Amino acid sequence: MTRVPQHLALIMDGNGRWATGKGRPRWMGHARGAHTAREVVSYCAQRGVEQLTLYAFSSDNWKRPADEVGFLFDLFASHLERQLDKLLKHGIRLSVIGRRDRLPRGLCDAIEATEARTAHGQRMHLRVAVDYSSRTAMQEAFTMGEGRGEGRSDVRSDVLPNANILPPVDLVLRTGGERRLSDFLLWESAYAELAFLDVNFPDLSTADLDAVFADYAKRERRYGAVPAPAEVSAPTTPAILAPR
Ligand code: IPE
Ligand code: IPE
Ligand code: MG
Repeated sequence: MTRVPQHLALIMDGNGRWATGKGRPRWMGHARGAHTAREVVSYCAQRGVEQLTLYAFSSDNWKRPADEVGFLFDLFASHLERQLDKLLKHGIRLSVIGRRDRLPRGLCDAIEATEARTAHGQRMHLRVAVDYSSRTAMQEAFTMGEGRGEGRSDVRSDVLPNANILPPVDLVLRTGGERRLSDFLLWESAYAELAFLDVNFPDLSTADLDAVFADYAKRERRYGAVPAPAEVSAPTTPAILAPR
């Protein structure tokens, strides 16, 4: 088994194009994407991913037509309710990050109930980003720090527990062919590996995930240090400097 990222962040992009490419309305892509998301969650738990953060709705997605936004919220609320037993059975803790104050009341209730029921899940921590903006999360974290008179310029989740600042991300995966982060986990991804797939999210398969994990396992993460000594070949003295 290859080494899997402990914290995988997934930008689930390409639902709309999946649908329009088939001559269908965009909402069908979101419905199919929700199905794929369920499979991804199960598979990641099975592979030993400890933390999975899914980008479901960005704060900029409010720019979309109201019926698309409403459909996404309804879909998420109904999935939370239907997936509860499975989350409990597999020991998956669910949390939602992002703003809550603009979400429909019914969705907030479903989120709070699912978070409370799954709070003791030990196997994997699943976070879903809804009305999420990384810049907003960082701004809030900094403001909270100042408000406490801490006068610090860094952000620590132990100091600021409610600030939507997560543990570091090991791998960001984006489907749908775009190569950008779209305001997702910018702070947390400081040293994340990046992977981009041209496949639209509804078509993402467990074989695709296997390939992404296999590629991740080959990467050497140095965090600014030099490679581990075992991997360094002995330096050869350039002929011009060699003692005569
Ligand atoms: C991602 O798919 C889902 C959300 C952003 C809610 P998109 O809806 O962005 O699909 P494309 O990028 O238009 O194909
Ligand atoms: C990012 O996708 C947000 C989600 C996947 C939820 P978008 O489709 O909104 O991003 P842009 O507009 O292509 O950058
Ligand atoms: Mg998109």
